[in-house]
Amino acid sequence: MTSAYTNTVSSSATSPLRLGIAGLGTVGTGVIRLIREHADLIKNRTGRSLEIVAVSARNRTRNRGVDLSGLTWHDNPVDLAADKQIDVVVELMGGAEGSARDLVEASLKAGKAVVTANKALVARHAQTLAQLSHTHQTPLLFEAAVAGGIPAIKTVREGVAADKATRLGGILNGTSNFILTEMAETGRAFADVLKEAQDKGYAEADPSADIDGWDAAHKLSILTAIAFRPIDFDTLAVSGMRAITTQDIHQARQLGYAIKMLGVAKRLPEDRVEAWVQPCLIPAHSGLAQINGVYNALTIEGPFSGPITISGQGAGEGPTASAVVADLIDLARGHALPLWGRMDELAPIPCEPVEKLPSAFYLRANLNAPADAVIDADKALSEITTLLRNEGIPLAKTLHHTPLGEAPQLIMLTRPIPQEEINRILPILEETTLISGAPLALRIEDLP
Ligand code: HSE
Repeated sequence: MTSAYTNTVSSSATSPLRLGIAGLGTVGTGVIRLIREHADLIKNRTGRSLEIVAVSARNRTRNRGVDLSGLTWHDNPVDLAADKQIDVVVELMGGAEGSARDLVEASLKAGKAVVTANKALVARHAQTLAQLSHTHQTPLLFEAAVAGGIPAIKTVREGVAADKATRLGGILNGTSNFILTEMAETGRAFADVLKEAQDKGYAEADPSADIDGWDAAHKLSILTAIAFRPIDFDTLAVSGMRAITTQDIHQARQLGYAIKMLGVAKRLPEDRVEAWVQPCLIPAHSGLAQINGVYNALTIEGPFSGPITISGQGAGEGPTASAVVADLIDLARGHALPLWGRMDELAPIPCEPVEKLPSAFYLRANLNAPADAVIDADKALSEITTLLRNEGIPLAKTLHHTPLGEAPQLIMLTRPIPQEEINRILPILEETTLISGAPLALRIEDLP
């Protein structure tokens, strides 16, 4: 018995596992293609076949490049939950509410196993879904919800199940990593690179989910629930990458760092949890700094297992379809675990307030440069560093540089201080006549 559920498919079954797929976008059609192309391999590995019997999508007539003839078509995706010919519902529509939520909840209540790639749904309704899955003894699998083709859930829930992780963190969004990489390597403009990520199918329907960190936050929340304990998603601190310029990336590199959009969670004493998503400076020699393009990576550290880093493609048709079908293979083998890999049901707790968490920071301020003014950047740097020291901000390094055709910029690295100290100082800096616009502060995280 490898399943924690009674209401699932027996590991000795040989009849086809019958699937109903809701959502025929990039991932949905990828799943159909993969199941058909690897039919023999899947049968070999599970002793049974995966048979697609029904589908649902918004547009019935669109040519998706896959043959849908002979499949039952449901105009309303929620009807898949009641379709008696289906064993497993595959939810690939996305969205934390609406049809996706209705379908997943109705399927679990109907005792139909669910496989989904929907990170927003799983992260935002973690407790309800865990309870439904437990009450109805029906598995809900979501490997594709976190980091595309990388077996992140399997690694955290099974691979290091014997250890008590202390920290996990990584690059959990392909679009933002693709944009930062392209900006660093080619100097291309943000909007131009974002358009390419959308064309390639990496970006979310609303790409602000990628750029502003919410997509990574959903994934981090899910991983945190498995590695540590469930958290209240609304207390996870999230900041995006819109303020980062190519100059910041170049300056960070000069100082021995890379800028990456990170999601990090840590186990704190007394069963508390720290979790946040924000762009950070990480050492240029670290493993995560080498992860570029649409690639994602996750590092998990535990006292017994030590640091483990896994990386791969975090978005796109092939990798995401691969993760969805791996979950289906688990079900076909009769293997399913509780959502968070534990038998008790822990209520979500709030994350520690990010303002209280200490870190070193990178500070960048643009000098005010009226036309034709001669700027004494040395003097400005000296005045600003004096101001910061008088305010009790400990500085480790200060410098200025002048990008071609722009006003000089001041760059300062602080020693570790609580983030609330940085939040207090930013408006003070912005108010000085020396500084133009909003200064930027980025956390420096010492990840391996
Ligand atoms: N938009 C997401 C990304 C897709 O860029 O990583 C996978 O969640």
